[in-house]
Amino acid sequence: MGVTLDEVRAQMGDCRRCMLCEGRTNIVFGVGDPHARVMVIGEAPGKNEDLQGEPFVGAAGKFLDELLTEAGLTRESVFIANILKCRPPGNRDPQVAEIEQCVPFLRDQIRAIHPDVLVTLGNFSTKFVLKTERGITGLHGTVQRAGRFVVVPMYHPAAALYDPSKREVLKKDFAMLGDLLEKIREMWGR
Ligand code: URA
Repeated sequence: MGVTLDEVRAQMGDCRRCMLCEGRTNIVFGVGDPHARVMVIGEAPGKNEDLQGEPFVGAAGKFLDELLTEAGLTRESVFIANILKCRPPGNRDPQVAEIEQCVPFLRDQIRAIHPDVLVTLGNFSTKFVLKTERGITGLHGTVQRAGRFVVVPMYHPAAALYDPSKREVLKKDFAMLGDLLEKIREMWGR
């Protein structure tokens, strides 16, 4: 048996590996089904997530819930985590040193959950999972592979809050994810 999610959380403890610990209210470890077939990976907690200790509970999170419905999924049926587990001040971009300190926990979460499909939201998680420099504009809504995982990169739902034209693109891409999951169910019997 590999590592469990509880063990990964225990390893994090009251993490002080980078400066983000200074400003955080809560570590945002992740939420959902520990045996999910689909794992959704975002960027970093925002203000609401930091306060509540749960990923995607703000405006982008409400839209993510809607998008999951387009794919025939619910928040409870997937596992949602972020590249960074603590909120960067003022919601600035994650820094390389912070990512380096934090991603071993994400890697262990992926190992513990063992999903079939990783849905990466936005550039940071897509670049991390696919080890690519290609941007999300060219990759969103495509089906990729990383090792034994099927990877579906998506625009970050927050992008649609600033650019409403991305709303329909995201809905279409999540509907495609629903079709893909149906095919996987037929082929792999789950
Ligand atoms: N954006 C993210 O990438 N993650 C969250 O948890 C919230 C907003």
